[in-house]
Amino acid sequence: VAAEKNGYDHFMLKEIYEQPKAIRDTLAGRINGGVNLDEVLIDRQLLKEARNVTIVACGTAYHSGLVGKYTIENLARIPVEVDIASEFRYRNPLVDEKTLMVVVSQSGETADTLAALREAKSKGAKVFAITNVVGSSIAREADSVLYTLAGPEIAVASTKAYTTQLAAMNFLALALAEARGTLEKEKIQEIAEAMQALPAQIEKVLEQAEQVKAVSEAIKEWENLFFIGRSVDYAVAMEGSLKLKEISYIHAEAYAAGELKHGTLALITEGIPVISLATQEQVLDKTISNIQEVRARGAYIIAVAQEGNEEIGNYAEVVLTVPRTHPVLTPLLAVVPLQLLAYYTACVRGCDVDKPRNLAKSVTVE
Ligand code: AGP
Repeated sequence: VAAEKNGYDHFMLKEIYEQPKAIRDTLAGRINGGVNLDEVLIDRQLLKEARNVTIVACGTAYHSGLVGKYTIENLARIPVEVDIASEFRYRNPLVDEKTLMVVVSQSGETADTLAALREAKSKGAKVFAITNVVGSSIAREADSVLYTLAGPEIAVASTKAYTTQLAAMNFLALALAEARGTLEKEKIQEIAEAMQALPAQIEKVLEQAEQVKAVSEAIKEWENLFFIGRSVDYAVAMEGSLKLKEISYIHAEAYAAGELKHGTLALITEGIPVISLATQEQVLDKTISNIQEVRARGAYIIAVAQEGNEEIGNYAEVVLTVPRTHPVLTPLLAVVPLQLLAYYTACVRGCDVDKPRNLAKSVTVE
């Protein structure tokens, strides 16, 4: 098994570092000026005429759907609903033949996600699957499949599957935008080109591993902390929070930064770490004012911001940076320091990183 880890201490770390390749592989052949999804038997008519999109998944895959909602609504101007599979399947969901149903699953075997797919199909919806496993149950039962080419993911904590799912969401958003005429050709091209720069940009983010390690030292004694963010950063905050809980056993809560004063500020005490995502230009001032709110109450701020954001350093103890890209693509970069943070924190706390307690890689029971 040691050999398969390629010299890394854990599969999780190996998989975090495999992300540039995973993204490169997932993009290969699918970008040609715009997006080329010919290999996917996705119903062109439906892309054009769908009334709504419903994304259903569990855990990290669900979080990729939350990012997908922002991206698809933003670029393709179609309403997107995102639901947890174990909720969706039991609520007599409103889907029909006009719905583009999207299921996301790394393994393609998650019981609730598979059941949600069947439920949607029985109501007439066409199901588009995003999965990492060729020939999996979800791949077989869906009407069309877009494979993420992340390669086998062994660690229970999902990393490279998530970022490739985000790339798949971007493909879907661009395909919808193209079919529906909501984005000019040049805009589509611009985003597609920005996607191709992501692997090298992820490599740059990974160069900050030592800084992230230092943050792990600073937070390791805490049993509670917060992640905050606005807009798509809120979705990334949720993924960062899940990752940290899952492997370091620190309780973390992700909060929409603007919602803090509706209750959560009461939990901010002297020194509590607040990991603050601030990559979204259009809400940057608002996010900074939320950071100031928690800081004034003693919080220790770890910020994730875009390169060249000089201002944020005035409000944070530590700033981790991500290269600049199109705003809908920042989650692919911003999640990387959070994955490293979860990893190094679990290590310093002596946790079993690749096999956290009580969890299985693939949840095939309901
Ligand atoms: C993520 O780190 C988790 N281990 C978990 O939330 C996972 O994403 C979820 O169980 C869904 O799995 P799937 O993608 O294989 O369907």
